[in-house]
Amino acid sequence: MVDLVIRNVNVLDGSGSEAFEADVEIDDGRIRTVGTAGAADREIDGEGAYLAPGFIDTHSHDDGAFFRHPGMEFKLAQGVTTVVAGNCGFSAIPADPDADSATASGGILAGLEGEFVDLAGYYAEALKREPAINNMMLVGHNTVRALTMGMDEREPTGAELETMRGHVRRALEQGACGFSTGLIYRPGRWSRTDEVVELAKVAKPFEALYTTHMRNEGDRLLEAVEETLLIGRESGVHVHISHHKSAGRPNWGKVKDSLARVDEALATGQRVTLDVYPYTAGSGRMIEYFDLENPSRTLAEVIRIASCPAFREFEGRMLVDIAKEQGIDVTEAVKMILTAPRGDRTICIQFIIDEADVETNLAYRDMMVGSDGIPDLRGQPHPRLFGTFPRVLGHYVRERATLTLEEAVRRMTSLSAETFGLVDRGRIREGFWADLVLFNPETVRDTATYDDPKREPEGIELVVVNGQVAFDAGTHTRVGSGRMLRYRRSAFGDAQ
Ligand code: CU
Ligand code: ZN
Repeated sequence: MVDLVIRNVNVLDGSGSEAFEADVEIDDGRIRTVGTAGAADREIDGEGAYLAPGFIDTHSHDDGAFFRHPGMEFKLAQGVTTVVAGNCGFSAIPADPDADSATASGGILAGLEGEFVDLAGYYAEALKREPAINNMMLVGHNTVRALTMGMDEREPTGAELETMRGHVRRALEQGACGFSTGLIYRPGRWSRTDEVVELAKVAKPFEALYTTHMRNEGDRLLEAVEETLLIGRESGVHVHISHHKSAGRPNWGKVKDSLARVDEALATGQRVTLDVYPYTAGSGRMIEYFDLENPSRTLAEVIRIASCPAFREFEGRMLVDIAKEQGIDVTEAVKMILTAPRGDRTICIQFIIDEADVETNLAYRDMMVGSDGIPDLRGQPHPRLFGTFPRVLGHYVRERATLTLEEAVRRMTSLSAETFGLVDRGRIREGFWADLVLFNPETVRDTATYDDPKREPEGIELVVVNGQVAFDAGTHTRVGSGRMLRYRRSAFGDAQ
């Protein structure tokens, strides 16, 4: 008898083809049959709901969340069964156990603790906490650079570059899927293009990725796309553009030019992929967005505070309202927050994206979905942390018809699995790992809002991770069946 049968479902197999009626048999963590099922130790009646491969969050900052929140409720309740972490140049590894990684990353990696120094060590520590979902890692440029040369505002010496190469290589050898940059952030922003090319080259023999939060996503978006494509050509590595957007009103609409440039590169045979989050606000470390000498008023007026250790009472509020209450100018409010003790740890939300651009992105052929959620649950985080995947299915598929259901599922599953080297995942197919989500396409929707961001979505009925029921009718079962994945290889802890 097999372990589990899910009967009477419409299977969206992740390939992009239409749903078909079937039962699915699961045994020993994997999908055994798709068709007519026999008896099982546990039987679930899907009652005609839709069964898809578990969603893959191609852009997460969950490195520390695997330690602090191993139940990963905010992802699991969306139907997410795997995340790619280590994005935007910030990764848990490589690490110096004596250094404070949370400070180095401005709070983005909060929660990490333990004695690990490399990917194998991090994976072993993460597994001890019995994570609810799977994790695949990138190794981040900002992390590697800070570990090698601190926050020095200069080019690396030849020896330092060699040390950085060594860190990147070691992570890739241990199973990371690529090298990430965050070139708007410190210290990455101080690197020249050739430094990034040299480090991206390390990924070439592994056929791994170069993923990037580009140097500019606003006034100089198109120049930043050129730099990204150049890095891909010079290194010979597949480039992946993270959270593609055009920030700031004067730049709205430019995503069309940027996508046209990507199409040209694809036509020449270059490998380029992208992801997007389905919201019109970004979110990140506030200090990176402002010149403290002369804070931008235009930006300050569209800022909302997500997390603020210095002033917890400001969390969840617009900066203009805070300034009015304090009787100060909005640019003064920026300075007050950022210069306070631990002010540099403030995470903000900025309303800088055009809705039409979100739809242009989601309508683009192979656009993947990444939440970019920052898992700081003490504050009032951007709702994308809890809502991204149901929002695509509810708002953009059902209400707006920006893309079809089959296509949305393909881009959240098989396309992402193939791009990020997740072996035997991303499809409902015999022999594949049983990472599954059962949902109702008529009711699925995000409920997390900017005012009330920590709400789990509706319409996600069941989530299975590696064959175990992890989420069932709103309940997190805490089976802890998540695994640590290695690029195009078996999971960490398994034989090669
Ligand atoms: Cu990011
Ligand atoms: Zn980013």
